[in-house]
Amino acid sequence: REVSPIVQELVAEGVQEPPGQYVVPEQDRPAAAFSEMPEPIPVVDLSRLSADSPDELAKLRSALENWDLFLAVGHGMEPGFLAEAMKVMREFFKLPLEEKRKYSNIVDGKKMSWDGYGNDLVVVENQVLDWNDRLSLLVEPESERAYALWPTQPPSFRDILCEYTVRCRGVANLILQKLAKLLNLQEEYLTTMLGEKSLTQATINYYPRCPKPDHVLGLKPHTDSSLITVNFVDVDVSGLQLQKNGIWYNVPIVANALVVNMGDLMEVVSNGFFKSLMHRVVTNAEKERLSLVMFYVLDPEAEIELVPELVDDKRPRRYKNMKTKDYLAKFFDTYATGKLAIDSMK
Ligand code: SIN
Ligand code: FE2
Repeated sequence: REVSPIVQELVAEGVQEPPGQYVVPEQDRPAAAFSEMPEPIPVVDLSRLSADSPDELAKLRSALENWDLFLAVGHGMEPGFLAEAMKVMREFFKLPLEEKRKYSNIVDGKKMSWDGYGNDLVVVENQVLDWNDRLSLLVEPESERAYALWPTQPPSFRDILCEYTVRCRGVANLILQKLAKLLNLQEEYLTTMLGEKSLTQATINYYPRCPKPDHVLGLKPHTDSSLITVNFVDVDVSGLQLQKNGIWYNVPIVANALVVNMGDLMEVVSNGFFKSLMHRVVTNAEKERLSLVMFYVLDPEAEIELVPELVDDKRPRRYKNMKTKDYLAKFFDTYATGKLAIDSMK
C-alpha cells in the first residue's frame, strides 16, 4: 500500500497537469457544461417541519422521491456561526504541512484509522485518486473521540466542531423524526435506532483548485455509508453533483442551507423506500472548495435491521442481513475501486 501525495502540495508546487494517478478515464470525465435541472430541488424549512406543517412534509416527501436529497433551511444555525465554522476549517488547511501532518492518519505508510488528516490510500492497481485532501474525525459517541487527532490550531477549531456536532445532531434528529413519519412509523423510530453507540463521522473535505478540472474528480461517484448525511457546503463555489436517470446535475448552492441526503443504511433499513443518493464532486480551476460532512452511521456492532413494518408479501426484503461493521469494511474496500458496497447486500 502506498501513500498518495497531499493534493494541496501538488497545487502549491504549481503542477500544470494532474499526475496520471488522478486522471479519470475519458468516459467518466465531467463534462464542461452541465445539464439544467428539470425542476428545482425543494428547499425544506425545518422550523415549519418541526411545527408539523403538512405542506413542508409533502415537500420533503417529494424531494426524496425525486432526488434522494433536499436542501434544509430553518435549521437554527445562525449564518454567523456557519461562517465562523467555515473560516476555522479553511484556516486549518492553510497551516503548514508539518503542522497538519501532526494529525495524519498515515503512519509508516499505513492508514491507522479512518480518523485524521490525509487522503486516499492506494489499495488497488489503476486506482484513480480523488482531487481532495481531508480531515475526518469521529465526533460521536463522545467517549470514542481520538482527541490526539483533533487539531489545536486554529485555537477555536475544537470548540466549534464540538458545538457544530451538538447542533447538527439536533438537526439530524428532527429530520429522522420526519422521515419516520413519511414511513408511517412512530416519530422516534429512527432516532431510537440511531442510539448511543451509533457513530457520527465528521469529514472536512478540502478540494484544491485544479488546473484541468475536466480531467479529475474531487470525489468519485459514490453513495454514502450513512443513514443520512448532513453536508454544510462552501457558498463560494459549487462542486457537488448528483446523478438522476444517468445524468449529472449540479446541486445548487443556497446560502446557509444544509444539503441532506439519504445513505446506504437508510436505503437498507427502509427496504428501499428511501434511496441512497448517487453523487460525486467536481473541481474548479479558479477556486478551492470546502465542505463539512456529517455522516450518521449506526452502531457498528449491531445488525442492520430492516424495519419489519416495511417488509411484506408485496414488498419482500430486498437486502441481506449484515452487521454494520462488516458493511463498513466492505464500503472502504469498494470505494477505491468505484464499486458500490450496497450491491453486496442485494
Ligand atoms: C461527500 O460526498 O461526502 C462530500 C460532498 C461534498 O464535498 O460536498
Ligand atoms: Fe458522499
